[in-house]
Amino acid sequence: MAPLVNVNGQILDEEHAVVSVFDHGFLYGEGVYETLRTYNARPFLFDRHMRRLRTSASMIALTVPIDDTGIEARCDETIRGAGLTGGPGREAYVRLMITRGVGDLSYDPAMCPTPTIVIVVKPQVDPPAAAYERGVRVTLVSTVRNHPGSVNPMIKSNNLLNNAIAMQEAYRRGAFEGLMRNYRGELAECTTSNIFIVKDGAAVTPPLDAGLLPGITREFVLEIGGDEGIPVRERVLRDGDLLTADEAFLTSTTREIVPVVQVDETRIGAGTPGPVTRSLLAAFRRRAHERTAHPSVA
Ligand code: PDD
Repeated sequence: MAPLVNVNGQILDEEHAVVSVFDHGFLYGEGVYETLRTYNARPFLFDRHMRRLRTSASMIALTVPIDDTGIEARCDETIRGAGLTGGPGREAYVRLMITRGVGDLSYDPAMCPTPTIVIVVKPQVDPPAAAYERGVRVTLVSTVRNHPGSVNPMIKSNNLLNNAIAMQEAYRRGAFEGLMRNYRGELAECTTSNIFIVKDGAAVTPPLDAGLLPGITREFVLEIGGDEGIPVRERVLRDGDLLTADEAFLTSTTREIVPVVQVDETRIGAGTPGPVTRSLLAAFRRRAHERTAHPSVA
């Protein structure tokens, strides 16, 4: 199944989906985005993604010129057009991007009266089964997560240079993900996912003021933990907390909950996916399917 792209309401194939080189998204990385995925062919936690999109947009003084219903309609139409009807191999990856739009070479937002809205739809590709069964190795990278007073990591921005450079380090070391520290040296997040450790039965993740993206999956895990009898909390974490953890895992929309069994040369816990991680993953998947099969289910 080939990707389909919705450019300002028009559905096009990969080859014909184009944006001007004068778009400030291209020129300056001025834009925000969301990555969603479907279960049962329905975008999961759509409302939460829209809330975060609007927060991101307001933080770069970008007006989103379309309401959630309009965005949902464009997503649905593009998903249907791509033939992604749900079920194994037929779920959608949806990347929604809103940029400042086309305008003269200037940082003045007044130069760009019309934001560009692009929705890329492709089949969702899950991580290999081995990642869930055996766990993955991540690496602590030297690239520091953006200072919140600079390009705030709260903004899910198209300007991804900080993340791309950090992930280059991870690729060079053959790691599944690169884990960044913040400017204070505390653990922040990975290049495209949030990090959790498990200690004495509780799952712990760095707080938002460590300077990180408020992940939708992270937020969902904070909520479902209680129902599973697993305490889930936010706390400042340092390298030592991770290296001596019983378990660790990362979270993201496209990867759900992936067990981390090694950090550079250090084995985490028993070196295999642990019971807390496995319970949370099972609970997460169950809820994702329930909510999309019956959208009113909490
Ligand atoms: N990445 N941190 C960063 C820097 C991210 O880019 C992402 C998401 C996350 C996890 O957020 P969520 O649970 O809302 O997906 C954390 C997406 C998947 C992406 O870049 O495509």
